Amino acid sequence: MKSNIILMGPPGAGKGTLAKRLIAKYKIPHISTGDMFREAIKANTKLGLLAKDYMTRGDLVPDDVTIGIVNERLAKDDCSHGYLLDGFPRTLAQAEALKKLTENLKRDVNLVINIDCDQEELVKRISGRRVCKNCGAPYHVLFVKPKVEGVCDICGGPLFQRSDDNEESLKVRLSNYYNMTKPLISFYEKSGNLVNLDGIKGSDYVYSEAIKLIGE
Ligand code: AP5
Ligand code: MG
Ligand code: ZN
Repeated sequence: MKSNIILMGPPGAGKGTLAKRLIAKYKIPHISTGDMFREAIKANTKLGLLAKDYMTRGDLVPDDVTIGIVNERLAKDDCSHGYLLDGFPRTLAQAEALKKLTENLKRDVNLVINIDCDQEELVKRISGRRVCKNCGAPYHVLFVKPKVEGVCDICGGPLFQRSDDNEESLKVRLSNYYNMTKPLISFYEKSGNLVNLDGIKGSDYVYSEAIKLIGE
């Protein structure tokens, strides 16, 4: 089984949607840097105060801060049998730091799933997204409706719209993705671990391909 996994892709490609299904099956920790920052903001911690303005604008939180929280998280015991990184790495510096860290921990990445999706679809997905306040599960007002409006199917928590899911921040997020994160595809292609999945084909397709790649 390939269980040291990175999920990559532009904002709205479906990383969080796939991650929720994979962790239900494989019981490995879901490490989403975006979720970690949102939790810190909610709890009013020093990290939250630092991350808030960057996130609202759609900018990346500085590398040293982001690398620091991932270093700490990946070294924990519950990552010894696998982990699912979602939204990290996003810059070359982050990818290089991750390589060093996972080598030291003997927890090398063995699968990189890159979900691609065209920009028109990304804009539709992000503009209708609602997210659970408790567990972070993503929904969509048209495409992925919860059973009860405004309520999370998984945990019963209330759904809300992320503050960075607006037209202005999305422009910045997309441009950061194309300039800083997309180039990492060739970084991971060289490692031989990268697989591209077409996100437009729907979340069932992406999930069934992903479990074939991960194995039992
Ligand atoms: P983060 O939380 O990682 O956001 P993101 O990368 O912009 O990605 P999203 O969460 O928006 O999209 P997703 O791919 O998870 O899509 P989802 O499954 O929700 O980061 C937020 C911010 O935190 C960054 O901008 C930055 O400031 C900071 N940050 C985080 N990591 C950082 C890092 N490493 N370095 C620096 N800063 C960092 O799906 C989207 C929508 O589409 C949902 O509504 C969903 O229901 C719907 N949907 C999903 N699949 C389908 C489908 N197949 N068909 C129809 N609808 C679908
Ligand atoms: Mg997400
Ligand atoms: Zn929930």
